[in-house]
Order: sequence, then C-alpha cells, then structure tokens
Amino acid sequence: ILLTAICAVVSFFIGAIPFGLILGRVFNHTDIRKAGSGNIGTTNALRVAGPKVAALTLLLDCLKGAICVLIARPLIADLGYGFPVSIMAPGAAGDWMLGVICLAAVWGHIFSPYLNFHGGKGIAVGLGVILAWYWPIGLSLLGMFIVAVAITKYVSVGSLAAAIGLPIAACAVFPYSSLGLKFCMAMIGITVVWAHRANIKKLMTGKESKLSFTKRVTE
Ligand code: G3P
Repeated sequence: ILLTAICAVVSFFIGAIPFGLILGRVFNHTDIRKAGSGNIGTTNALRVAGPKVAALTLLLDCLKGAICVLIARPLIADLGYGFPVSIMAPGAAGDWMLGVICLAAVWGHIFSPYLNFHGGKGIAVGLGVILAWYWPIGLSLLGMFIVAVAITKYVSVGSLAAAIGLPIAACAVFPYSSLGLKFCMAMIGITVVWAHRANIKKLMTGKESKLSFTKRVTE
C-alpha cells in the first residue's frame, strides 16, 4: 500500500506535466492558455498552435499516462510484498492499486501543481492510462470518441461520451472487480466531466466551437 501511494504521488507529478503549454511555447512562442478555450490540451493546441503541436501534445499527454501505469504495474507487483501481477488484474484482490495510479495521473493533469492547480481536461492522459491498464476498453472508448466527434464535429462531445463511458465499460467488462477499482474509474469519469463544465455550458448555448484542422485562433 505504501508503494502504491508512492507510485500514485509520482504519477500525479508525471501526469501534471503540461505538454501542450510547453510545446506551444517551444514551437510557436505562444501561451496556448491565452487563446481559444484557454485549455492546455490537444484541441486547443490545434486551434492556437496548429496540427504539429497538437499531434505532439496528444502523443506526449497520452504517453505520460501510459508510462505511469506501465511503470507502476511491475513495481507494485515485484516489490509489493511479493504480489504477483495477477493480483492487480481486475477482479483480483489488489485490482484497485492500478485504478489509483490511473486516477492519480489524470488528477495530476487536471489539477496540475505546476500551474497553480489549473490544468487540462484529462482526455489524452486518460486515454493513455486506460490503454495501458486494459487496452480493449481504451480502444473501445477511443472508437466511441471518434464516432461522436465525426457525427457532431464537437471534440467535447466525444470527450464527454468517453468520460461517461469509462465507468460503465469498466463495470460491464469487470463486474467482479473491487469497489475500489470501480470508484477510481467513476472518479476519473466524474472529474473529466467536471473539467468540461465550460464546454457543457457552451454546448447548451450553441457557443462551442467545432473541430477544424485549418482554422487558427489568436485570441
Ligand atoms: O479534451 C478537451 C476537449 O474535449 C475540449 O477542449 O479546448 O475545446 O475546451 P477545448
């Protein structure tokens, strides 16, 4: 449990690295928080800094999440009182441990200590942790996201669908998993939806901006 806590703290700080902000500064000399939605994620990086920065942001945000899970899994399994990896498989006694790591990385991104606890919305990092945790659910949610965005042209609609879908998918695929794991997946979904509160308001008032690969925003 101590090791899980240490891994969770490390994951929080890895998840907190604001790649969108860093890449926007490096490649475009702009603070992507100052334009568009003001978010530090892939969608706003695309709006403000273009496809190159957006693609790199997506990749690195996703990777930082995946790395947290990939590092924690063998560490907790090998050093954690001799637990075999299978004890962390959904449904096994320690399945909640990786759930905590997933949650910590997503919370790190959303409540980034490097940005006075104002971070992003947790979609790319969430995809990374879920793909590394159990890739079939990650891929399914990604598919759902793509379909929702393709139909509506709103990235936030895809994000909200994936966020709501996560706890539902986790409970449906692993009904015998621990309450702790279900709680972590639910908390990821709830926090990501909460992080999209401004998008929800804009969607309801028709002010949300649609996905565009060519339109650049400067304010
Ligand atoms: O995942 C973020 C996306 O759903 C919305 O981003 O910049 O339009 O608020 P943005």
